Amino acid sequence: MARKEQIMKRMFKANPLVRIAGLAIVLLLLTGCGKGLVEKVKIGFVVKQPEEPWFQREWKFAEQAARKYGFELVKLEARDSERALAVIDTMAIQGVKGFVICTPDVRLGPQIVAKTQQKGMKVISVDDQFVKPDGTFMTDVPYLGIAARKIGEDVGTELFKEMQKRGWKPEETGACVITWNELDTTRERTEGAIDSLTKAGFPKERIFTAPQKTSDLEGAFNAGNILLTQQSQIKRWLIAGMNDSAVLGAVRAMESKGLGADAVIGIGINGTDCIGELAKPNPTGFLGSMLLQSRIHGFVTAEMMYKWVAEGVEPPKDTRTTGILITREDFKQVLTDQGLGDLVK
Ligand code: GLA
Repeated sequence: MARKEQIMKRMFKANPLVRIAGLAIVLLLLTGCGKGLVEKVKIGFVVKQPEEPWFQREWKFAEQAARKYGFELVKLEARDSERALAVIDTMAIQGVKGFVICTPDVRLGPQIVAKTQQKGMKVISVDDQFVKPDGTFMTDVPYLGIAARKIGEDVGTELFKEMQKRGWKPEETGACVITWNELDTTRERTEGAIDSLTKAGFPKERIFTAPQKTSDLEGAFNAGNILLTQQSQIKRWLIAGMNDSAVLGAVRAMESKGLGADAVIGIGINGTDCIGELAKPNPTGFLGSMLLQSRIHGFVTAEMMYKWVAEGVEPPKDTRTTGILITREDFKQVLTDQGLGDLVK
């Protein structure tokens, strides 16, 4: 018999108090009264742009999952690569077992995975899928994102429908497509919009792409301004972009050139970052948005991670979500139906 075991045996024999205390701890744990004694599972949720309402929503829904399953959610922001790697260390020190991340740079994927494995943690990517050095996706890392091309196509279809409703002729209209080609999920959205516009009969030569230099409203505003200066003869515009901020930036650029609600039709994506715009008393060039399912992106990814860590249930490798159009007329109702009612109160 090992020496350690012998000592333990002697202790138990010699001291009945030790026995009673041991029994009490086992009972506490079994009855659940000792819950406080057991540390909660910790799950991380890292986002690239915490100022975007979209990411705030993901956090909010992830918190709902934390409440439902009784884990602790650690919310962290990582606006650049250095920080993204640093927060993995932070989480490891805090005892986080796994995390969900929308990375600031998808090419950081291999490094994130290596670091995560080294720390014995698990990772799920949300929104922006990790890519390998050769540009292909890291399909072995569980990913949840949007059906980007389909949603982009729907934007194009809706823009064309509204143009027809207003009786605008395609040959007198321009399409301003604010692009962000750094990411596949965002490139697919604007490519989808261009595809469906051309399929519907919008002239290809009247579709103008304007790349944004930064992935925020200001970047889109600047891109839109450059395009408008180059195409100042066009007085009616359709606008598409990777998300609400992209389209809002272009709408603001149009306004600065005197083009308002009667001359502009813009449709965004996310649906969470345009509430103030849709609630304005007077319509603007921002017609509506494809509302994405932030609940699934936040709640379900956090839930998947919890089940992976706590129960060993591996998440699916690829999950895609869809979007629905919201406009000034129906956004309050649709958002409420989608569990986002607090945004419109
Ligand atoms: C990207 C965009 C976000 C949002 C998500 C949705 O990360 O930057 O604004 O559209 O995709 O998956």
